[in-house]
Amino acid sequence: MAATLLPRFTSADEPSVVVPGEAGMIVRSARFLDLEMPPEFFSSWLTPVPHFFVRNHMYEPSTLDAAEWRLSIGGEVETPLSVGLKDLAKMESHTVTNTLECAGNGRGFQRPKVPGVQWQRGAVGTAHFTSPRLRDLLLRAGVKPTGKHVMFRGLDEIPGKVPPFIRSIPIEKATHADTLVATRMNGTSLARHHGFPARALVPGWIGAASCKWLTEIRILDHEFEGNFMKPGYRMPNHPISPGSDVNPEDTHPITALGVKSIIAQPGDGSTINSRFLKIRGAAWAGEAAVTRVHISSDGGTTWRAARLGSQQARYAWRFWEYDWSAPMTGNFTIMSRATDDQGNTQPQTATWNPSGYLFNAIDQVNIHVSA
Ligand code: MTE
Repeated sequence: MAATLLPRFTSADEPSVVVPGEAGMIVRSARFLDLEMPPEFFSSWLTPVPHFFVRNHMYEPSTLDAAEWRLSIGGEVETPLSVGLKDLAKMESHTVTNTLECAGNGRGFQRPKVPGVQWQRGAVGTAHFTSPRLRDLLLRAGVKPTGKHVMFRGLDEIPGKVPPFIRSIPIEKATHADTLVATRMNGTSLARHHGFPARALVPGWIGAASCKWLTEIRILDHEFEGNFMKPGYRMPNHPISPGSDVNPEDTHPITALGVKSIIAQPGDGSTINSRFLKIRGAAWAGEAAVTRVHISSDGGTTWRAARLGSQQARYAWRFWEYDWSAPMTGNFTIMSRATDDQGNTQPQTATWNPSGYLFNAIDQVNIHVSA
């Protein structure tokens, strides 16, 4: 099975998962590979590549020769370009530590239920991404004043009539110094599941903005209109009642991630045979910075501040921990609630939407303390 799943790629360092689930990942889909990181792997501030979630809308490219690969840059530019990996390697390189989260992470907790991959906590990971800045490529091509949006096209293999994975981001974000055409992740070439040989890296924004297996960048005078921009990856303009439909015309594209925390330990449903327990987890806030995480063990009546970990970077999650003593044996619900430097706090209930995007309700796990 492993052999038939393994596409022919040249020059990827390949430290990555070959058999889905091999590295202890939760396999949400094996057809189009969707792998979720289980809570116990929220233990390393930088997520090792084999533990980094994978979200594919379709098949990964089955063959990709690094020496042949080209990236074209065209559209509203003075000089259309075509660059290869060697050209990218000669450009000034920049590293961004980014927490990449799928817009659908947490969808499995949305009530009423919504269709789509039933991610729980782990469609998220943090890595160093290294490469030239997208803006340096755009400068070379010379964006015309009419260029307002930057479109990315991936090399995914498209099954049947599925529309291709093409999305766009506004020119302001595309020309930000931290937006990259990433060729390296945690110090090695991108693994094929993560977009070898190059992917867009749009820090702080939903994972869908960071197109993998990049083959074309096109500057447009309008936002790209296609399945993965509309109806995909949009939020209602106004709150809608849970379970109801939304008119696509009354929605907007999702950009940055919201403030969120998850509890990594103890696991939901676990039995603890000690009254003393370290509660720990991660919190992130897209382009904003997490300033506080609070913990409750009494259903949200009282909250106490958790200690934030020392490792931090713009766009990256903060680990946190809290030493808790159970007042007695019995059942407890532990809750975590993050706040960012923009004054946003995780809500009790996430904003319901028909695709379950941006779920960021206060996290909670139920545990039993037996001793
Ligand atoms: N790029 C292409 N070409 N095809 C895809 O299916 N999935 C997107 C994005 N880029 C996708 C893509 C989504 S929805 C997410 S959340 C991230 O890739 C996931 O990146 P990862 O698989 O490296 O974790």
